Amino acid sequence: VTQRLLLPGVSTSVLARAADGTAVSVLAGAAGKDDNFLDLVDASLFERDDIIALDQDTAAEEYFQVRFVDGNRLWFSSTNSSEPATGLRFDHAAGALVLEVILLEGTEGVHYSLNAITGKITELQELGTGVAIVVSYTTDFVVPGSYPPALNNSPDLDESTGDWTGKDLVDGTYQVGIWGHQEATFSMFGEDSEYIISSTSATQDVLVGFATTLEPYDLISSAENCYSCHQDILFHDERDRGFETCLLCHGTAGAEDLPRSVAASAPETSGVSVSFRTLLHRIHRGKTLANAAGFTTVGAGDDPYPDNFSLNTYEQIAFPAMPGATKHCAKCHGDTNTAWMTPADRDHPTQQILPTQTWTNVCIGCHDASAAVAHMQSQTSPFGAEACAICHDQGEEYAVELVHETR
Ligand code: HEC
Ligand code: HEC
Ligand code: HEC
Ligand code: HEC
Ligand code: HEC
Repeated sequence: VTQRLLLPGVSTSVLARAADGTAVSVLAGAAGKDDNFLDLVDASLFERDDIIALDQDTAAEEYFQVRFVDGNRLWFSSTNSSEPATGLRFDHAAGALVLEVILLEGTEGVHYSLNAITGKITELQELGTGVAIVVSYTTDFVVPGSYPPALNNSPDLDESTGDWTGKDLVDGTYQVGIWGHQEATFSMFGEDSEYIISSTSATQDVLVGFATTLEPYDLISSAENCYSCHQDILFHDERDRGFETCLLCHGTAGAEDLPRSVAASAPETSGVSVSFRTLLHRIHRGKTLANAAGFTTVGAGDDPYPDNFSLNTYEQIAFPAMPGATKHCAKCHGDTNTAWMTPADRDHPTQQILPTQTWTNVCIGCHDASAAVAHMQSQTSPFGAEACAICHDQGEEYAVELVHETR
């Protein structure tokens, strides 16, 4: 009974629970809201694409589709795609029932009618008394009360990287963006050529909650800085264009590379962040990384499932600012920008337990040598507090702007 967006090609589907499947188990431990996986006592009977009912006949009953069985762990869909559902809506206790079920899709006009304006679904045939109905629909976006799971979220990156999955929404300035792309096929001499072109995005800063003052984005002074080297910035099969578009996803913390729930044959890259704070530094440090050949990100690929992934390394990239290459922080950040000299505080105001390691997450992007990593770890307390500012803050002996001074 929710308003539905009337977009062409976006259809509602109504499925009724018809029978129990053969796979059944129980949760090995508690599962929390926004988790994108379940750990079972025994997952051996479950397979990709199974529909499961979790905690049936309780207030926390919910339905998911399995995308990947990883030992005794069932993963749901990637949070970087819209279907099927991702992230638990409720908390579940250890021992909760996980049961495979069979759902049958009804036909509009035969089994049910849909009033698309009000979103009301009316049975035309009895679907069964007490039978669970699972509905897939599109609706207006409602600002959630808490942060949804980060892109490709997994437990590998926790709140110490700034991941706020599941925490209460904080009042402040948020950015909304919209962009689109067009695809065309050109056929000549029996050959088809595919062309894709996308727009840059239109963005708008909006105030959320009780915030009263817009705080414009200021970590990079202008996207023009990127265009002093790049003629254009196009990525993901040319469907995303312009730095502002990238930031709508890559500006968020906790985002990870392509998971095995999307491409089962992909290697496990534990904790690889695709947040630009870490990744964009690392990409441009490229061939001068200590571990240049070893750093790999998993991205989307063109082959069919389960080989639909690509492996990307950056060992061929040289940052063309000489001498010193990536020491030229201002090449990207801007000549008058100071955001790169001291990372801003990024702790959640009320629900942070482990502090965000604002320094390490940035510096480690370029300083990946084991001695440098050990130095950063040894300057972090067992509870996650960083000592970096004592020596590397503005005005200190090893201030970031001093140690990166270039001729
Ligand atoms: C001083 C020049 C310079 C600046 C400034 C610069 N880049 Fe780059 N960038 C390069 C070079 C050179 C490469 C490697 C060659 C290539 O892929 O174009 C590269 C590669 C990349 C890649 C990797 C592409 C791939 O194939 O994986 C991305 C993404 C990227 N840059 C984005 C940006 C963004 C966003 C900015 C601004 C915040 C920026 N760059 C600023 C020179 C620069
Ligand atoms: C809608 C969200 C979204 C947008 C917009 C977006 N990305 Fe990504 N990007 C991701 C996700 C998620 C991944 C992790 C791999 C995956 O799931 O495909 C990723 C992976 C990457 C990677 C590393 C892996 C690979 O595929 O090479 C690079 C580099 C990258 N993106 C660059 C960009 C650039 C440059 C832009 C802007 C032109 C951009 N992205 C826009 C979500 C996005
Ligand atoms: C290739 C472009 C590029 C270069 C070169 C670069 N940065 Fe960055 N930097 C970025 C981007 C992009 C972000 C993250 C933007 C975001 O997530 O909103 C960032 C974020 C940061 C942040 C985080 C700010 C905060 O408040 O969290 C710090 C600190 C930083 N950079 C330091 C440096 C230092 C130091 C250098 C030079 C040694 C440097 N950067 C060079 C592109 C660059
Ligand atoms: C965009 C890449 C980049 C980022 C991000 C970056 N650095 Fe550097 N840094 C360099 C380069 C390049 C040098 C020159 C020496 C080298 O090539 O290792 C350097 C040198 C240094 C040095 C001098 C010691 C030495 O090895 O010469 C210190 C100290 C340092 N960085 C601290 C930091 C700290 C602290 C941060 C995080 C706030 C940071 N760096 C982030 C690229 C970066
Ligand atoms: C007690 C002072 C002190 C503290 C605290 C400190 N550092 Fe350093 N750091 C140094 C000194 C000294 C160097 C070496 C400078 C040089 O070689 O010019 C260094 C070097 C570095 C380098 C460059 C390593 C390389 O050679 O590639 C990075 C990156 C760095 N520190 C990051 C951090 C981070 C992140 C923290 C906090 C978690 C931190 N430091 C805390 C003093 C400190």
